[in-house]
Amino acid sequence: MKIIASNFKTNHTRKSTASFIEEINGFLEENKIENEVIVFPTATSLDSFSTASNLTIGAQNAYAVDKGSFTGEIGTEQLDEFGIKTILIGHSERRHILGESQENIAKKYEFYKSKGYKIVYCIGEPLEVKQSGLEKTLEYIYEQFVGIDTNYENLILAYEPVWAIGTGVTATTDDIIKVHSAIKEKIDKPLLYGGSVKVENVKEICSLDGVDGALIGTASWNANDFKQILENTK
Ligand code: G3P
Repeated sequence: MKIIASNFKTNHTRKSTASFIEEINGFLEENKIENEVIVFPTATSLDSFSTASNLTIGAQNAYAVDKGSFTGEIGTEQLDEFGIKTILIGHSERRHILGESQENIAKKYEFYKSKGYKIVYCIGEPLEVKQSGLEKTLEYIYEQFVGIDTNYENLILAYEPVWAIGTGVTATTDDIIKVHSAIKEKIDKPLLYGGSVKVENVKEICSLDGVDGALIGTASWNANDFKQILENTK
């Protein structure tokens, strides 16, 4: 069984999210797809979605708190309202654009782990690190595990090389196999690949050794494309 996840990032409204969920849920039911499907909508589109019976809704981000005075943030009290128990932590856009430090990420991880959330934890190297070779790439990735207790039953990892995210440049199958097998040797958890996964390459990527599924941005935002992705990986 594979895990196929869609990260909406800052795309879709509440209305279009609701119809996306309804359409995908129906598709999963009709086609008897047994893969685990997770959708991460924007915070304003989080909902309990009565039509999400065949898939899981997760939060792209939240603060390491139940509630309190943290302007602009949401905590577990808001997530609980919709029964959300899945969260994405360590995404490269939060690390590199929003400036989240490894220390903050580890704090967030520890908090959501203590709450029993399913955590999709992202790691991945920028281009200059990739260009300096596999050894440096792995060193960089291992630094992203500082403060992270990976001995956690609800942990899913996602390897997303920064240079492959939203660029249309997918990592080669060779790159993916090498990095995935090195990570898996250290941490025996489901490991997704993310970074320019498309309708055309998702099947090949998901069938590689050490790849347990995909975390998809751009190619998953259109419901028809996402259905095709689900079809291609079933
Ligand atoms: O979290 C998924 C992501 O960062 C990959 O984005 O657009 O390259 O599929 P994309």
